[in-house]
Amino acid sequence: MKIIGTGSYVPDLSIKNDDLSKIMDTSDEWISSRTGIKKRRISNGENTSDLASKAALQALKNAQIDAKDIDLIIVATTSPDYFVPSTACVVEEKIGAVNAISFDISAACSGFLYAINIAKNFIISNQCNNALIIGAEVLSKLVDWKDRSTCVLFGDGAGAVVVEDSKESGILDITIGSEGEKWKALKCKSCFVENPYVTNEKENEENLKIHMSGKEIFKFAVNTITNGIRNILKDTTYNIEDIKYIVPHQANLRIIEFAAKKLKIDPEKFYINLDQYGNTSGASIPIALDEMNRKGVLKKGDKIILVAFGGGLTWGCSLIEW
Ligand code: COA
Repeated sequence: MKIIGTGSYVPDLSIKNDDLSKIMDTSDEWISSRTGIKKRRISNGENTSDLASKAALQALKNAQIDAKDIDLIIVATTSPDYFVPSTACVVEEKIGAVNAISFDISAACSGFLYAINIAKNFIISNQCNNALIIGAEVLSKLVDWKDRSTCVLFGDGAGAVVVEDSKESGILDITIGSEGEKWKALKCKSCFVENPYVTNEKENEENLKIHMSGKEIFKFAVNTITNGIRNILKDTTYNIEDIKYIVPHQANLRIIEFAAKKLKIDPEKFYINLDQYGNTSGASIPIALDEMNRKGVLKKGDKIILVAFGGGLTWGCSLIEW
């Protein structure tokens, strides 16, 4: 299976750190020095399926494939438009992919890599020949805008790839995992249990917004990047010098710098665009891939590693030949 097209879409509204300091007690200095984030895109009303569909149409165009020829759509998102239907079904309708099987998956910031793994298994087992894989988030509707320690980190956006069955290399290896015992470190409750038979079930201490234990996630993220890269290379003939780029989940520059130090590699090997978009969760890796593809940074045969971590806690790592 290989990637044959990429696309992305971010909302027009760009909010700089200095803009945030006008609506909350924060500063460009605090945000930049602790995260590397300078600005983020925020939805001015578009929902997750809108962003996802726009990224998808770009990926289809780049892959030169008609929406009607897509067999499978997987949307990785933690911020769906609806409980029912899946965002993927809404995307299917919006782009006219009338022959696709469509569903969402929930693996937070690792969702895109989970979706790649699922698509690979669909293709290997001959259930489909190609897939449209989208990471899309409107996190601005889920962050607590009164919690300055989380809301400054996130942004809205969508990225997409088209993959198809291929004898050529492509996805050389992929591995995903979860550590459910740490689920409380990053959470966003969906709704309260309220019905005619249950009263006073509202957990007053918790709202329906994102809550995060920043330091715990930081540690998990550094270890995940480090172990993910070491382990994926272990079973191959490649070593780190053979890898042209590492495309990490774009959460925090300091996480990436710590991981680079532990791996004793040049931080320049990591492709970074989090300064522009903040943390777009499941969308961050496909947005970066599309940016690299459009800039012509990726050459045929380049080996790249994608590595992600996030709520769950979940992680994923993949070795790709472009
Ligand atoms: N602006 C100014 N001050 C802020 C702030 C903000 N936006 N957010 C928090 N603070 C304050 C806190 O109130 C606290 O103040 P206090 O010490 O007076 O109580 C202080 O800054 C905490 O600072 P510090 O201990 O230096 O925080 P940190 O080094 O742990 O950095 C994070 C915080 C969130 C940047 C960091 O933990 C992190 O990036 N974690 C990973 C989060 C992540 O990437 N999550 C997504 C994973 S997919």
